[in-house]
Amino acid sequence: MEPDAYSRRFLFGDGESRLLGVFGDPIAHSLSPKIHNLSLAQLDLNYRYLPFHVRPNHLKAALAGFKALGGVGFNATVPHKEALLPLMDRLDPVANKIGAVNTVDIQQDGTCVGYNTDAYGFLTALREQYSAPLADKNILVLGAGGACRAVLVALLDGGAKRILLANRTVERAKALADHLLSFSEYDNARITPLPLNFNQLPQDQIDILVNTTSLGLHNSDPLPLDLSRMGPQTLVYDIVYSSQGTPLQARAAALGLPIVDGLGMLIHQAARAFQIWTGEPMPVQLVKDQIFGINP
Ligand code: ATR
Repeated sequence: MEPDAYSRRFLFGDGESRLLGVFGDPIAHSLSPKIHNLSLAQLDLNYRYLPFHVRPNHLKAALAGFKALGGVGFNATVPHKEALLPLMDRLDPVANKIGAVNTVDIQQDGTCVGYNTDAYGFLTALREQYSAPLADKNILVLGAGGACRAVLVALLDGGAKRILLANRTVERAKALADHLLSFSEYDNARITPLPLNFNQLPQDQIDILVNTTSLGLHNSDPLPLDLSRMGPQTLVYDIVYSSQGTPLQARAAALGLPIVDGLGMLIHQAARAFQIWTGEPMPVQLVKDQIFGINP
């Protein structure tokens, strides 16, 4: 097809176009429409992916309306990931362990299957830079919120056995550790809850540090942890994605520590959702290159 006709068809859609989207509140900042529409156009798949500003009290109606319009799948972001759980007909086991849904697949008979692709996104991005087995590594995870649940499931499914979980509200870290260790498949793992400001954190023995707190979303945020006592090989993985980088990433760079930022997780969680809906692999390198300016 010559380019103009192609872009017009892609812009307007037609009676065969299948509807995808993302529900969130707020939603305007979401990069998902760009990532998915670029990938769909590249593979010439007749779907359109739209952002939907869905307020919490409209979630159930939005799901019903989306299904009625023939929507085939959507992502969910803040604040809907936990609220979607009871609205699903079936849950993927990973979404069940995490206790949150970020991807919904709507089957032809209307059955809604809830997935969580954040854990896959986290682990795939980690594996792009760090191939060593996780079983004998000391891993320090900061935070105990929604994002942390997916990170812990990813680490445990990836073979991690020794995790220190440090959070400002230590009770939340304890509750999260108890919840995950109640799954029999994690019997042989250890998750130790600690307060975030615990001054005896064995920083020099940490192989991988993961920040899942929301600190870093704003440039003026303080560091969740001072890194000065970290060993020279500690990998610093900050799942916050900010186009200017975060204070933690800047501090790690200044100390010469290896860094993984949140971009890989963002792209790979999208790639897994894309595959669930379309059955096709997302052109990840094209997304990195054309949307984020990252060349191989
Ligand atoms: P998300 O879904 O993004 O994980 P969340 O569930 O609100 O969001 O969790 C935010 C995390 O960042 C929590 O671990 C929170 O610590 P608390 O459990 O003590 O609230 C952490 N966090 C947010 N602001 C923080 C701050 N100023 N200092 C330290 N930790 C902070």
